[in-house]
Amino acid sequence: MIKVLVSKIKKAVRRAKRKIVFTASHSRLDKIWFEPVGGCNLRCALCVNSIAPVKRKRGLAKLETFIKVLDETNPKEAELCAWGEPLLHPQIDSFLKICYQRGIGLYVSSNFNVKADFDRLFQANPKMELAFSCYGMNQETYQLYHKGGDFRLVMDNVMKAVEARKKYGGTLSWVWLKHRYNTKELSECLEMCKRYDIKPLVSDIRLDLRREVLDPLSSYKDDNIHWAAEDSRRYFKKTKKKKMKCPLPFRTASFDFDGSVLVCCSSYDNEHDMGNILEEPWKDIWNGRKYRAARRAIRWGIFSEPAVICQRCVKRGYRDE
Ligand SMILES: C[S@@+](CC[C@H](N)C(=O)[O-])C[C@H]1O[C@@H](n2cnc3c(N)ncnc32)[C@H](O)[C@@H]1O
Ligand code: SF4
Ligand code: SF4
Repeated sequence: MIKVLVSKIKKAVRRAKRKIVFTASHSRLDKIWFEPVGGCNLRCALCVNSIAPVKRKRGLAKLETFIKVLDETNPKEAELCAWGEPLLHPQIDSFLKICYQRGIGLYVSSNFNVKADFDRLFQANPKMELAFSCYGMNQETYQLYHKGGDFRLVMDNVMKAVEARKKYGGTLSWVWLKHRYNTKELSECLEMCKRYDIKPLVSDIRLDLRREVLDPLSSYKDDNIHWAAEDSRRYFKKTKKKKMKCPLPFRTASFDFDGSVLVCCSSYDNEHDMGNILEEPWKDIWNGRKYRAARRAIRWGIFSEPAVICQRCVKRGYRDE
């Protein structure tokens, strides 16, 4: 009886402390993003790899770094990509396999513009969702966005992935971003999805993946608005939305290939890093000055740490757009 009461009091104290100082439980995250490869072989029109001067280091993640991230954050789900091309990693199957062995739900997105052994990938993780990004049904439309990309190679890879997925299990998804120049081709994409049991993931293209968090839309809209599809809800059919409090720094985290911690994938520049998991204990980063400032900014609108990107993001209302 006393034991139960003491445990209840301890729980209540922990909860109250979290509300006041904005710490959060570090023992199990809902989700992590991890970048196996810092770098890409393509230069897509609106991706940070093309539009922003790349200030981050480029390189390949070590498997030990990924294992350390998993050990410390114990996530329920993982997404193996942010702003790089994961299938360029020569040991990518080992990253996939570890998630399978630990029962972590896995999503990977690729440009399918690399030669890959899909049997090996689906064998390593028969439960993963492997997505490919392709926003056109011929070379001409495809390369408008995927500059330097080869549509035939993507389609060859799709057929190989369809066969491998049939053998081993898992999900194959097609990320199709609607833009001004591909609207007529979407129906063809959807037919192909039906024929080969591919899950379509269709959404509107975004105009500037880096500045959308930092700056008001009006400051970059004119340069890129020609990309937006005429029926784009994001840019042309705005309805007044309920104010949204971003949940990410309370339950999720992003990691670059070298162990740098980012508050979310919208944070791109080094100056916004929250720490490095190879240099500091995870719980000190997760409940350190920067993370607490991010949570305070989101929950209470207190802006005390200019270096924390969430402050800028909340102030400019990115999540409410
Ligand atoms: C930056 S990519 C990295 C993974 C991989 N290189 C790829 O292209 O799939 C991560 C996701 O961002 C999506 N993406 C790329 N450009 C985008 C844009 N302008 N708006 C919204 N999503 C975009 C891609 O389709 C992909 O699903
Ligand atoms: S393939 Fe992916 S990471 Fe590479 S430039 Fe395109 S969107 Fe960016
Ligand atoms: S508030 Fe903005 S910058 Fe911060 S985690 Fe959310 S989306 Fe990312």
